[in-house]
Amino acid sequence: MNRPERTPFAVTAPSFARSQALHARALQVFPDGVGGYSQARAPHPLYLTRAEGARLYDVDGNAYIDFMLGAGPAILGHQHPDIVSAVQAVLGEGLPNIAVTERQVELAETIQRMMPSLERLRFLPTGTEAVQAAIRVARRATGRKLIAKFEGAYHGQADNVMVSVAAPADERGPAAAPARVPYHCMLPEELAALTVVLPYNDADAACALIERHAKDLAIVLMEPMLGFAGAVPATREFVHALRDVTARHGIVLALDEVITGFRVGLGGGQGHYGVVPDLTILGKAIGGGLPLAAFGGRAELMQWLSATAHPHDYVFQSGTYSALPLSLAAGLATLRALEAGGEAHLLKLGERAREGLRRVVADLGLPTCVTGLGSLFHLHFTAADVRSAREAEDADHAKIRRLHEALLSHGLYFYAGRLGFLCTAHTEADIDHMVAATRAVLLEDGGASPQRPSVAP
Ligand SMILES: Cc1ncc(COP(=O)(O)O)c(C=O)c1O
Repeated sequence: MNRPERTPFAVTAPSFARSQALHARALQVFPDGVGGYSQARAPHPLYLTRAEGARLYDVDGNAYIDFMLGAGPAILGHQHPDIVSAVQAVLGEGLPNIAVTERQVELAETIQRMMPSLERLRFLPTGTEAVQAAIRVARRATGRKLIAKFEGAYHGQADNVMVSVAAPADERGPAAAPARVPYHCMLPEELAALTVVLPYNDADAACALIERHAKDLAIVLMEPMLGFAGAVPATREFVHALRDVTARHGIVLALDEVITGFRVGLGGGQGHYGVVPDLTILGKAIGGGLPLAAFGGRAELMQWLSATAHPHDYVFQSGTYSALPLSLAAGLATLRALEAGGEAHLLKLGERAREGLRRVVADLGLPTCVTGLGSLFHLHFTAADVRSAREAEDADHAKIRRLHEALLSHGLYFYAGRLGFLCTAHTEADIDHMVAATRAVLLEDGGASPQRPSVAP
């Protein structure tokens, strides 16, 4: 716990020899040497030994300020004392994974207070499962088959949404009617045909497509801010146009707030935009770092999950890990800490990060667009004012990867090439250091450190 930091945050030429050696072993047991795509990092992942607050420590004795935060969940940072003691208390209770506890009700009530549109909800382990459960409810409620998602949106790893997450420029079709492009999976045509792809932040084109498919369309899945495409917020008009068109045609509007939930304020994207969705999907930050997701919405829709109300045709939704006692305790501690001042701190830091980065790229005269909301931010190396998935995709990705790579030498750990996440353990000084280091690296044009040549994972 109190191991001294062997490396100051302004690191120069750090060594990664032990991570490299572990990666060589990992290559013999895992494809690409990693347990999943999000662990991959070029040319090899950094093996971590400990995390505390906003700090990470690796096997080579390097210390970093963490702007990846486990791809978003650690909104209070690592080892927050309230989460540690809440989880320890549950471990002491020895409850099984399926135990029904008061905590389950309490966390649901807390979420309802923050997002009143979740009149009824259910907890699950992952966002992927929550998205699929929402689709299943929407299909039953509407009796329709098709689902719609936006180009550039990521909704987890089920086949039906692994469509047009990112696509090569020559395959993506017209901007106003994007083609269905399977995302690194072999998608049978029959399955792909059930997913309609909509253009993001183009209300006229998206509404026209929705109207064209309206009689067969069960659900429109929408991220209030494209997350992994690079923190691209929706415009207010766009969100409201989508709400209107779906309501007019009896289509379920589901906001996927796996990334925006609790990060764009406690009310999530729906609070920010003042929109009331039919269903909402939550994940990541809701568990404070432990696996937890939820979906919920209008009572009348969620009632399709009730075997009492619909004994013959209720929608089945369950799982061995449906009670998640440790995760619920961590989630409650997380939301309480956010309510007790954490949220305000995060929102201030988010502004500081985006403003600081905007100043840097303006001073350097770099055609760069800084995006994000709440405690999320991203840099797009492009002259475009990034609003769509395509504008984000067409930015210089090699350059943002090089930047993140080079920032390691300044003791800063990013999700390589992806958006930055903030936590309540970050300080203004952390943000200022990140901004100053970004300026220093960009001045040298984002050159990669000599030990770790930049290769996309
Ligand atoms: C917007 C969004 N929806 C759904 C998911 C899937 O969540 P999980 O990785 O917990 O399955 C993600 C994951 O990154 C996400 O960003």
